[in-house]
Amino acid sequence: MGFGWWRRSLLGAAFSGILLLQFCFCSAQEAPKFTFMHNATSAPSTSYYDYIIVGGGTSGCPLAATLSKNARVLLLERGGSPYGNDNITYLSSFGRALSDLSPTSPAQRFISEDGVINARGRVLGGGSCLNAGFYTRAGTSYVAGAGWNGRLVNESYEWVERVVAFQPAVLEWQSAVKEGLVEVGVLPDNGFTYDHLRGTKVGGSIFDRNGRRHTAADLLRYARPSGLTVLLHATVHKILFRIKGKSRPLAHGVVFRDASGVKHKAYLNVGPKNEIIVSAGALGSPQLLMLSGLGPADHLKAHNIKLVKDLPLVGQGMSDNPMNAIFIPSPVPVEVSLIEVVGITNFGTYIEAASGENFGANDYGMFSPKIGQLSTVPPKQRTQEAINKVVETMSTLDQTAFQGGFILEKVMGPISTGHLELVTRNPNDNPSVTFNYFKESEDLQRCVQGIKTIESVNGSLTLEQFCKDTVMTIWHYHGGCQVGMVVDRDYKVLGVDALRVIDGSTFNYSPGTNPQATVMMLGRYMGVQILRERLASEETK
Ligand SMILES: Cc1cc2nc3c(=O)[nH]c(=O)nc-3n(C[C@H](O)[C@H](O)[C@H](O)COP(=O)(O)OP(=O)(O)OC[C@H]3O[C@@H](n4cnc5c(N)ncnc54)[C@H](O)[C@@H]3O)c2cc1C
Ligand SMILES: *[C@@H]1O[C@H](CO)[C@@H](O)[C@H](O)[C@H]1NC(C)=O
Ligand SMILES: *[C@@H]1O[C@H](CO)[C@@H](O)[C@H](O)[C@H]1NC(C)=O
Ligand SMILES: *[C@@H]1O[C@H](CO)[C@@H](O)[C@H](O)[C@H]1NC(C)=O
Ligand SMILES: *[C@@H]1O[C@H](CO)[C@@H](O)[C@H](O)[C@H]1NC(C)=O
Repeated sequence: MGFGWWRRSLLGAAFSGILLLQFCFCSAQEAPKFTFMHNATSAPSTSYYDYIIVGGGTSGCPLAATLSKNARVLLLERGGSPYGNDNITYLSSFGRALSDLSPTSPAQRFISEDGVINARGRVLGGGSCLNAGFYTRAGTSYVAGAGWNGRLVNESYEWVERVVAFQPAVLEWQSAVKEGLVEVGVLPDNGFTYDHLRGTKVGGSIFDRNGRRHTAADLLRYARPSGLTVLLHATVHKILFRIKGKSRPLAHGVVFRDASGVKHKAYLNVGPKNEIIVSAGALGSPQLLMLSGLGPADHLKAHNIKLVKDLPLVGQGMSDNPMNAIFIPSPVPVEVSLIEVVGITNFGTYIEAASGENFGANDYGMFSPKIGQLSTVPPKQRTQEAINKVVETMSTLDQTAFQGGFILEKVMGPISTGHLELVTRNPNDNPSVTFNYFKESEDLQRCVQGIKTIESVNGSLTLEQFCKDTVMTIWHYHGGCQVGMVVDRDYKVLGVDALRVIDGSTFNYSPGTNPQATVMMLGRYMGVQILRERLASEETK
């Protein structure tokens, strides 16, 4: 194993003179005319719907679009619109939102107790407005394990793909990585496919050939406009329950605040099938359940929150897949690319790559300290001062020092888990979260194996320390409202009525090599299931 393949193909590319991707800044993409989208400041103080969805993110948007076909739906998103924001739209701007730390940024930074700097979406479209765009389905065994209907899963992926997924133009760096993976034995070469297959493949991207991002918000094009109201800058503070005279607490409304801090209430119309659905993401969903009185009794008591139902496992089973990367310098400039190729190994790690202008002092790429990726110092030392120092040092180096790309590995699963706790009672504040990277030795061994494959070096002791010291996030954190712990297999919250959680917080394992395809699919899939139940109940009336 060696990296001769990489240098050979890059040098070849230098002579072929087709290294740089052409970006089209031609005309700003026309924002869709979403007549149903409003600023929450214009909302009435009280309103009524059949479904109230909290969180207009990666799963909330496809879910809302689907439910709007046969019901009246309210979608509440704390952030603003992604349309017209170049920091979100262009691949070449990747990381700008992630490095914008203002309170109105579409990205909200958080640092886990482990010390790894991380980010969450705060915008319509959620994480799909910030992410690296790689689009790839979950494996068939994952689908079977989740108890999902394989046919509806496939139809739901296709529904998503018609709007947001594209085949990338694989240029020099990504081709070199692909060849290298095949050369070191990550076989077979599966070519371009959305499917999760062992070996090396080119996956899809939510960036089109012009480098423009297509987010989960675009799935709202499928909505029935008269069936949907989307409110932006609407932060939900609490889910309301009816308890008196009920054997189980019944969710029947929410309290949200607009950008001016004014309180509004939205309630469910009377009807046996009407529901509140929380799609606030892996941090937001467990946090909101706790703020609403669903969670570990002692913890809620410590925060003076009235208990509605003791659910000790809310906030448990939080995981983030560790990511470690190696920089491969190049003698010639390489294209700007985010993830396009993946090696699905047989030892539990996924190998991916990004290239070009990815971490210089002026850049915002996937490995830029400005976005919080700081592998040169161990996790707990990654302070803002440390970031500033690295950026400062980088600014003194010649640009050629940054020429090249990164090959990264993501540990599958992972097996290590942690937990989430409230810090304050304000939903705008981050909860505290601990992921316990590499707590389980199997995760650490998977990292070591992955790095070995990348570097083809020996000596596992050094590599174990390397894994721990350079660990970053690939932002695939999940858990907190897991199936079997907080929700049942239909995503219904245990012990209460008319409340579900549908998003990445329900996963106990990260699906596929990268999760967003499955998060969007799940929104569509559950929307179809919920409507089927609704129609069946109307027929039997
Ligand atoms: C930088 C980055 C790179 C990534 N790269 C990739 C990649 O290349 N490929 C891939 O497949 N995946 C990638 N991911 C992961 C993927 O984007 C996430 O797993 C996915 O977006 C999570 O979706 P979700 O629906 O669970 O949560 P989100 O998309 O985060 O949605 C939650 C929504 O709820 C809103 N919300 C939260 N609380 C409240 C409240 N109280 N009231 C109202 N609204 C609220 C939030 O503002 C947000 O819009 C990446 C993620 C990031 C951040
Ligand atoms: C884009 O990002 C930059 C830097 O991260 C920030 O200063 C700017 O305000 C952002 N612009 C928008 C429209 O959000
Ligand atoms: C779903 O699609 C995958 C390929 O993407 C295929 O392997 C699988 O058999 C399909 N499942 C069903 C139930 O059709
Ligand atoms: C929404 O309303 C608030 C308060 O009036 C205002 O500050 C904000 O700019 C508005 N946002 C949009 C997108 O119109
Ligand atoms: C290097 O790897 C080989 C094969 O895995 C192994 O047999 C050998 O003991 C390793 N050497 C060192 C110094 O770790």
